[in-house]
Amino acid sequence: MAQPIYLQLLFLLLLTKTLFFRSTYAVDLVFNGFNSSELFFYGTASLESRVLILTNNSAFSVGRALYPTKIPTRPPNSSTLLPFYTSFILSIAPSDGQLSGHGLVFIFAPTTGINGTSSAQNLGLFNRTNNGSPDNHVLGIEFDIFQNQEFNDINDNHVGVDINSLTSLTAQSAGYWAKNRSDQDRTFHDLKLNSGANYQVWIDYSNSQLNVTIAPVGLKRPELPLISTPVNLSDVLLDEMYIGFTSSTGRLVAYHRVLAWCFSNSNVSIGDSLLTSSLPLFVP
Ligand SMILES: *[C@@H]1O[C@H](CO)[C@@H](O)[C@H](O)[C@H]1NC(C)=O
Ligand SMILES: *[C@@H]1O[C@H](CO)[C@@H](O)[C@H](O)[C@H]1NC(C)=O
Ligand SMILES: *[C@@H]1O[C@H](CO)[C@@H](O)[C@H](O)[C@H]1NC(C)=O
Ligand SMILES: *[C@@H]1O[C@H](CO)[C@@H](O)[C@H](O)[C@H]1NC(C)=O
Ligand SMILES: *[C@@H]1O[C@H](CO)[C@@H](O)[C@H](O)[C@H]1NC(C)=O
Ligand SMILES: *[C@@H]1O[C@H](CO)[C@@H](O)[C@H](O)[C@H]1NC(C)=O
Ligand SMILES: *[C@@H]1O[C@H](CO)[C@@H](O)[C@H](O)[C@H]1NC(C)=O
Ligand SMILES: *[C@@H]1O[C@H](CO)[C@@H](O)[C@H](O)[C@H]1NC(C)=O
Ligand SMILES: *[C@@H]1O[C@H](CO)[C@@H](O)[C@H](O)[C@H]1NC(C)=O
Repeated sequence: MAQPIYLQLLFLLLLTKTLFFRSTYAVDLVFNGFNSSELFFYGTASLESRVLILTNNSAFSVGRALYPTKIPTRPPNSSTLLPFYTSFILSIAPSDGQLSGHGLVFIFAPTTGINGTSSAQNLGLFNRTNNGSPDNHVLGIEFDIFQNQEFNDINDNHVGVDINSLTSLTAQSAGYWAKNRSDQDRTFHDLKLNSGANYQVWIDYSNSQLNVTIAPVGLKRPELPLISTPVNLSDVLLDEMYIGFTSSTGRLVAYHRVLAWCFSNSNVSIGDSLLTSSLPLFVP
């Protein structure tokens, strides 16, 4: 027996509704190089041949770049956070072999601009007054090249998870776990962030678990993350947030660059969309 026509119509309506609501909050961004209309730039941030340069070797600077529209962190009228999957290719290069500072941070931020941020050890993320305040609503994944005792930094070459504070929730020395050829054993390989080398980073958040992985560009994504930590971001992330990158220099300087970036709130494999060959090289 044929279905009553109104059932078919109802089905069509529901399908359209589902597709419509999905399209209102699905975010899939892929940038294999940037153009000037794809980002907002603050402080010293600018583009050089489609590469985002957050800071160059000028002292005491802050550079920030954000995707120009806020992205939703929850489905409409829901309190449950969406997952997110982001991957990017960074390069941090010393200037004239000097001691370098200070680092590069992937951020979720509630507002545009660099109000409330300072240079040097503050990474263009917070300042002395607001550091540690739950009102910041900032998540940062830092790639930090200077050891600041005031923030309990573990060394001068680490990756950390920053929630409203420059004192990381958790941090690890930069590197990755690679499988040994013949068995299930894994060996840790150190990476020097401040070498100019291009590294690919993956940051995944789902079910209140945050993973961070980094590897030399071109390498297959290591199975084991560098950082895997439980964290409930419900009170950190507002319903809509800006996403992007921030960096700073102080008396010590470094070139902080991002060559490519992708972000999705549904596609766990979005990192595969980054092109990893024929990239410019900034190793001094
Ligand atoms: C920048 O890229 C976007 C697509 O991502 C395109 O629509 C726009 O025309 C480009 N703008 C320039 C100035 O190239
Ligand atoms: C460094 O960046 C600043 C801000 O974008 C710019 O004014 C300056 O010319 C740059 N310096 C060099 C040496 O490129
Ligand atoms: C969200 O809730 C508001 C107020 O209850 C309602 O007007 C709106 O239609 C809801 N939106 C969705 C997508 O359900
Ligand atoms: C900077 O932030 C402070 C405190 O959050 C706020 O009162 C002030 O209006 C902001 N200034 C600008 C220019 O946004
Ligand atoms: C930090 O930023 C806030 C907001 O702009 C400002 O009110 C405060 O004075 C700043 N503190 C420092 C130490 O710069
Ligand atoms: C794994 O490889 C490293 C060198 O890459 C080696 O030092 C280590 O002994 C190996 N472990 C095993 C169990 O084979
Ligand atoms: C994080 O890594 C662990 C260990 O590899 C894995 O079991 C888990 O599914 C990952 N979670 C996310 C959100 O990627
Ligand atoms: C996360 O925190 C929020 C608010 O504090 C709470 O309602 C929610 O149940 C928590 N989620 C998990 C998975 O613990
Ligand atoms: C997820 O992203 C990868 C890399 O761009 C792509 O190959 C794949 O088709 C995407 N999956 C979905 C479900 O969109």
